[in-house]
Amino acid sequence: MAGNAASIRINGTAVEPPDDPRVSLLDLLRERLELHGTKKGCDQGACGACTVLVDGERIVSCLALAVQYTGRDVVTIEGLAGEHGLHPLQQAFIEHDGFQCGYCTPGQICSAVGMAAELERGVPSYATGDLSTRKIAPSHDELRERMSGNLCRCGAHNGIVAAITETYAKEDR
Ligand code: FES
Repeated sequence: MAGNAASIRINGTAVEPPDDPRVSLLDLLRERLELHGTKKGCDQGACGACTVLVDGERIVSCLALAVQYTGRDVVTIEGLAGEHGLHPLQQAFIEHDGFQCGYCTPGQICSAVGMAAELERGVPSYATGDLSTRKIAPSHDELRERMSGNLCRCGAHNGIVAAITETYAKEDR
């Protein structure tokens, strides 16, 4: 858990950055740390399968050089579940059939966790009507717009939106 500014904290564990500065964060996770939950889809920032959280914000790890993240906290799908079980959004994905093949699922879930934090902080999207609001409601349009960077080729989007809505919009329904 400890670590220093020269290490990357990944799911709470200090990891030395790769010697080769060309290694992407995605390849560090998958190839060197064997954290295979984070998926490689397009490897060019277009599908969202590789989404992870860095200091609570979502990024596509295929476009991120691992050495850029020294001193930062990275959370992958493996790090989302707590000691008491699955993250509520993971559970909701199961209950709402928010996946079929499951390949996009880790990225969808990490992305949605980051998205919920954006809503809390009042970060607007294309779908936001009132730009002066400090906390944005997770409306259907907001969720669809904000999750549009995470593709699901099985077409499980309705279940994905239902799972996210149940987890983050309960109080608004
Ligand atoms: Fe990173 Fe597709 S693998 S966005």
